[in-house]
Amino acid sequence: MARDGAIYTCQACGAVHTKWSGQCSACTAWNTLVEEVQASRPPGALAPTRTKARPGLAFETLDVETPAPPRIVTGMEEFDRVCGGGVVPGSALLIAGDPGVGKSTLLLQAAAAASLNGASVAYVSGEEAVEQVRARAQRMGLAHAPVKLAAETSLREIAEGLKREHFDLVVIDSIQTLWSDQLEAGPGSVAQVRAAAGELVRLAKKRRTAVVLVGHVTKDGQIAGPRVVEHMVDAVLSFEGERGYPFRILRAAKNRFGATDEIGVFEMGDSGLREVKNPSALFLNEGGERSAGAAVFAGIEGSRPVLVEFQALVAPSAYGTPRRAVVGWDTGRLAMVLAVLEARCGVGLGDRDVYLNVAGGLRVTEPAADLAAAAALVSSALDQPLPQDCVVFGEISLSGDVRAVGRTDSRLKEAAKLGFTSALAPTSSKEGGSTPGAIPTAGVARLADAVRRIGDGDWK
Ligand code: TYD
Ligand code: MG
Repeated sequence: MARDGAIYTCQACGAVHTKWSGQCSACTAWNTLVEEVQASRPPGALAPTRTKARPGLAFETLDVETPAPPRIVTGMEEFDRVCGGGVVPGSALLIAGDPGVGKSTLLLQAAAAASLNGASVAYVSGEEAVEQVRARAQRMGLAHAPVKLAAETSLREIAEGLKREHFDLVVIDSIQTLWSDQLEAGPGSVAQVRAAAGELVRLAKKRRTAVVLVGHVTKDGQIAGPRVVEHMVDAVLSFEGERGYPFRILRAAKNRFGATDEIGVFEMGDSGLREVKNPSALFLNEGGERSAGAAVFAGIEGSRPVLVEFQALVAPSAYGTPRRAVVGWDTGRLAMVLAVLEARCGVGLGDRDVYLNVAGGLRVTEPAADLAAAAALVSSALDQPLPQDCVVFGEISLSGDVRAVGRTDSRLKEAAKLGFTSALAPTSSKEGGSTPGAIPTAGVARLADAVRRIGDGDWK
């Protein structure tokens, strides 16, 4: 029989069940239900309360001028921009990323910058001792920043501390290390993470303290423990980077106070993260001839154009099932491009190994990259390099058409600025491409036209 007050929480989706079972009925994951014992509620806590002070729902109209929320500007421009122009007081932020990607480094720097900008800032580490955090700050040259440090994992202590002293901004590193003595579950479990996040978000609103929570991501890309934290906070920023590359990208996955397609680019060095203010040339392979299989994609990340090299290798397969390996792009999208190349252009790569890599460790999600990926694949398959000075962009449809994409002018202008002199792009962008400073475009209406141009070396 279930114990009094016992509930079972799915560690994958956070669904709550009253009985244990092998499979979660909400998300169908197996063996994820874990018993949690809740602290007994005070009697009558759930009874509906009605007081004279609250007459019911009060409705308002839409046409009232609301001033833009004030912001805590850290002065770390890349960070501020991804937040939507600084951190909103009283809001809760989650910074999610793989262990070791640099979350603590980023937030220590942001905290230091904000404190130097006049905000009162605390950094609470549950993972490292104060000495370790201090040593790191000193190594990064931030010893003079008036940030208050603490090492604590008890939710009760942290909450008490935040009630005692007011801060504009508090960093909690990390949410998975916190524990509440109200719960029996261990730190990092759904129950603990939810309780800690809930309490901190409530405190944030009440005390108008912006709370930044650090969350580790599990191997399969989920924010460890629950996704429940994502729903509680105002913004979720993911901090990404490929191992072996110094570049780190801060990306907004959710933001109640700003755009979600904005990215911040950083470079990890010996003394912490350096902001990369103009990242457009960062993801290009420097130096030498562009070889067969390389295509420069003129992309847009957030509000900025970014040029990035797509590298493809098409090789004879040694095994029955050819390999498909992709870094920095979507596997499903690659399968689609390969299918369209085969069905609409007669370029069959079904029996060959295909490798596709986005240079520099960037993850590209724009559909406009289709044509760049296709061009890299065709160039490798035909062993025919693209012109050195050519950028590529365009979306490919299943019918084999090359569709126009947004912000053509920004793409072409940025390419021109970096010394590119031609573009392989949708025909329709040619008409719009009369902007001064943009480069001439070899327009293609169908993917087959692009394949022919690459094969013939025809770039007129
Ligand atoms: P860290 O911020 O501790 O990662 P996280 O909090 O996401 O787990 O950063 C860890 C890595 O960053 C570590 O492998 C060392 C590297 N690093 C540098 O290269 N330079 C530096 O100045 C710092 C502080 C860290
Ligand atoms: Mg850390």
